[in-house]
Amino acid sequence: MPEKKEAPAEIKREVERLVKEINYHNYRYYVLDSPVITDEEYDRLYRRLKQLEEKYGYILPESPTGRVGAAPSEKFAKVRHTAPMLSLDNAFSHDELREFDKRIKRLLGRGEDIEYTVEPKYDGLAMELTYEGGFLARASTRGDGFEGEDVTRNIRTIMAVPLKIEDGGAVPEVIDLRGEVYMDLEEFKKLNRSREEAGEPAFANPRNAAAGSVRQLDPAITASRKLFIAFYGMGAAKGVEFKSHSEFMDWLRSKRFPVPAVFEKARGIERVLEAVEKIENMRERFRFETDGAVIKVDDAGLQQRLGSKTREPRWAIAYKFTAHQASTKIMDIRGSVGRTGVITPYAVFEPVRIGGVTVGKSTLHNWDEIKRKDIRIGDTVVVERAGDVIPHVLMVIREKRTGREKEVHVPARCPVCGGEVVREEGEVAVRCVSLSCPAQVQERIIHFAGRNGMDIEGLGEKNVELLYTKGLIKNFEDIYRLKMDDFLALPRFARKSATNMVNAIERSKTPTLARFLYSLGIPHVGEYAARLLAKNFPELEDLYHVPAEKLLRIKHLGDKIAGAISAFFKDEKNIKTMEALKSYGLRMENPDFTEKKTEKWKEKLPLEGMTFVITGMLPVPRKEAEDMIEARGGHASSAISGSTDYLVAGEKPGSKLDKARQLGVKTISYEELLELAKVRPDTPSLF
Ligand code: IVH
Repeated sequence: MPEKKEAPAEIKREVERLVKEINYHNYRYYVLDSPVITDEEYDRLYRRLKQLEEKYGYILPESPTGRVGAAPSEKFAKVRHTAPMLSLDNAFSHDELREFDKRIKRLLGRGEDIEYTVEPKYDGLAMELTYEGGFLARASTRGDGFEGEDVTRNIRTIMAVPLKIEDGGAVPEVIDLRGEVYMDLEEFKKLNRSREEAGEPAFANPRNAAAGSVRQLDPAITASRKLFIAFYGMGAAKGVEFKSHSEFMDWLRSKRFPVPAVFEKARGIERVLEAVEKIENMRERFRFETDGAVIKVDDAGLQQRLGSKTREPRWAIAYKFTAHQASTKIMDIRGSVGRTGVITPYAVFEPVRIGGVTVGKSTLHNWDEIKRKDIRIGDTVVVERAGDVIPHVLMVIREKRTGREKEVHVPARCPVCGGEVVREEGEVAVRCVSLSCPAQVQERIIHFAGRNGMDIEGLGEKNVELLYTKGLIKNFEDIYRLKMDDFLALPRFARKSATNMVNAIERSKTPTLARFLYSLGIPHVGEYAARLLAKNFPELEDLYHVPAEKLLRIKHLGDKIAGAISAFFKDEKNIKTMEALKSYGLRMENPDFTEKKTEKWKEKLPLEGMTFVITGMLPVPRKEAEDMIEARGGHASSAISGSTDYLVAGEKPGSKLDKARQLGVKTISYEELLELAKVRPDTPSLF
């Protein structure tokens, strides 16, 4: 790199001013949620800063441009916490909180009311951020409380995290700040929606999504997940002291650190109960998931006198909100058919009010879940509806069984079209394989015409439904048969909107091959897999009747995906559909095709020939880990045996761990699995 010349003084001043200004606007936007400039103005400032930094090499440590762009790492380094990160004792009733207050008074030998603080308990991931000389030096996970993992590069991408403590007043030499990293509920829903669209497994809850995002080896993925943080405590510190928790919180706020959405001081336990109730009533409206409130003794001197037990401080407690649950009776269990033909069971029950909403049905996720929870028609069950999360059946109340309950079985035929259903080996999903199943058709067309597919503007859910019920479209090719007059005959269309539709359809006729393949909605084939296909096959026709074995030679394509693709292109009906589309003028372009030679396909995959079993909780959903194993040539099995090569053990491993020891099967961690699999963290999820 050519030597950069020292930046002139006025450039330095401009860079410094820009950094201050942009950081201020980040604070307005991400912490206060009240921006004062437009996105365009912001972009202009950002671009200018980037340009000056690049030209003169003058880059401040707190520069906003340094948040992203760090290269993926191999694994996380360990970090010892200077002061251990404790957990909290729980209280489940008002009386238990009163007990807590009594205990404190007794320990302190005090009669008068104690000053407490009350704040929401964030359901996320505990994090320690160490600031040295005012700059963010390190961020680490809680780990076992004593030692966590260095996730600094990922935490830097969280826009609400100050990279530098604001000047003025007390800026400590060193301070360990603690907070909870979480995912905004809207973001969580959006993320899951797009994962499902791409055929990727959804995260079970925002907490898992946040954890999975923080534990990415590639900071670029973390950055794309839009995480937030709320600060609520501190560990070791040098050069600063606070008289109370509330004084510390004021300091945090003045230094632009995001703090909990509600923070109340309350003298005496009865006032604490009021504050707790207030938070409980607000919880549905929060943009984060909360399962309780945290009550802390405010005075730092008293906190110190009270001290800590091994794992929890005596001066704080978490009050757990009553979960949103109710019991009701299951009247029926039915199956609904989605775009890819997956038949998802759902329960219809006697309508019941939970958390202010009447609920009459809920998904049962999959047929294995029904078996696992032993749910039968006629059962009385506990249903949970937490926050905005869709209701689900928590468990069966067995005591209420009469013996007349009916077991349900995996459907032998599609509940909508009566067609054949299949269950692929090792898969929980049951699918209707008929391409013409009416339930699937509409969803399929919506996907086909969608933004990431053929991108036919205006052909969304409502219009697809309208055209379908009028009998105008029942498959992809019908779209290209539509004429001006067809639209004009419909209630919702005038000349202008009809012209727009016809034009949009015409415009969609030259997709890239990757887009086209994605829009076909082949099971498991998301945008990434579609792209891989396009990179390896020059023309659509090269995929006709392609055997799975040939697809398996493509790096990153696992046998599940390969099987689905091969099955799709074996089906004459599908070939006919594609030929019909071509006859209407569709032409696929393939700028992605790169693999001119086939040699590459012959390379061995990293996990080829190895069998894995997973136990315990991994940092990612289990299905994701299993898919990753399969995609890299390995086999993920649920039962451990002598032919198992590795047991991957997460947190709280089950009995499989003992079994592995007995059988002499090697046990490895998730991180070691990633190493074996040579997961390059810069490849986005494969499914
Ligand atoms: S204070 C020494 N305040 O809850 C006490 N914790 O179950 C440290 N949490 O590990 C915790 N919101 O990860 C505190 N407002 C809040 C919190 C909070 C969430 C988490 C934290 C802690 C866990 C304990």
